[in-house]
Amino acid sequence: MSQIIALTNQKGGVGKSTSAVNLAASFAGLDRRVLLVDLDPQGHASMGSGIDKHSLEKSVLDVLLGEASAADTIVRQPPVKYDVLPSNGDLTAAEVELMHSDHRESGLTTALSGVLSQYDVVLIDCPPSLNMLTVNALTAAHGVLIPLQCEFYALEGLSALLDTVEQIKQSINPDLAVSGILRTMYDKRTSLTREVDKQLRDYFGDALLKTTIPRNVKVAEAPSHGLPVTQYARFSRGSQAYRVLAKELIRRLAL
Ligand SMILES: Nc1ncnc2c1ncn2[C@@H]1O[C@H](COP(=O)(O)OP(=O)(O)OP(=O)(O)O)[C@@H](O)[C@H]1O
Ligand SMILES: [Mg+2]
Repeated sequence: MSQIIALTNQKGGVGKSTSAVNLAASFAGLDRRVLLVDLDPQGHASMGSGIDKHSLEKSVLDVLLGEASAADTIVRQPPVKYDVLPSNGDLTAAEVELMHSDHRESGLTTALSGVLSQYDVVLIDCPPSLNMLTVNALTAAHGVLIPLQCEFYALEGLSALLDTVEQIKQSINPDLAVSGILRTMYDKRTSLTREVDKQLRDYFGDALLKTTIPRNVKVAEAPSHGLPVTQYARFSRGSQAYRVLAKELIRRLAL
C-alpha cells in the first residue's frame, strides 16, 4: 500500500520544499515509485524538479477543483526520476474556491485515490500556512513530516500545527500520525543548536529523526538547475544526508 506523507510547517523557509524534492529523489534512487504533490502556489517543489511552472497546461488547482484528473496532470521531467503533480500561482485561487466546496477538506484525498496504486510513496509539499490547502494535505496523509531549523523560534507555532493535526485526526483522518521531526540547515557546533536539540528531544522523544540535514551550498544551488541535489551534486554532504534520511524513513515507516 502506498504511504502519503505531508511535509508541513506553517513557518516559512524551514526546508519543506527542499526536503520534499530531495526525499522524492532519494526514495526514487532506492527504487521506490514516488509522486511529489506540490501544494504550494509558490511552485518551488515543481521548479526544483525541473518543471517550468509558468508553462503548465494543467496544475494541481484543476485537480482540486475536479476539473482534471491527477493522472492527466502528473508530469515528469527527466533526468528526474519521480512524478510530480505540479502547481503555480493559480493555486492561490483554490484556497478561496475550496472554502465554497461541499468537500472542501477532501478534494486532494479524492483526487489521489485514482493514482495511489501506482506509487509506493506520495510526498506532499505544503504552503507555509495552516490554510485549506494544508488541511487537504493532512486529510489525505498517513503521516506528517515536520522540517524545522534549530533556532530560537523553532518551537514557536509548533503547538498550533500539532493542534491542527490532532483536530484532523479526531474529525476526518483518525490514522494520521507524526512521522518525524526533521532538523534542517543543521549546525551542531552552536550552543543554541544543542539547547534546541534538547528541547526537541524532551518534547518529541522518538519522533525526532536521527538524521539531520546540514547547511550545504550545493543544496541551495540545486533548484536553480532544476535538479534535486542528489543528481546535481551527488557526493555533496547535503546529498548524502538526504539519502541517509530516506533510508531512516524507509525503516521507520516500512516504505
Ligand atoms: N540544507 C540546506 N543548506 C543550505 N540551504 C538550504 C538548505 N535547505 C534549504 N535551504 C535554502 O533555504 C531556503 C528555504 O528552503 P525551502 O524553500 O526548502 O523552505 P520552505 O519551508 O519550503 O519555504 P516556504 O515556507 O517558503 O515554502 C531556500 O533558499 C533553500 O535553498
Ligand atoms: Mg516551500
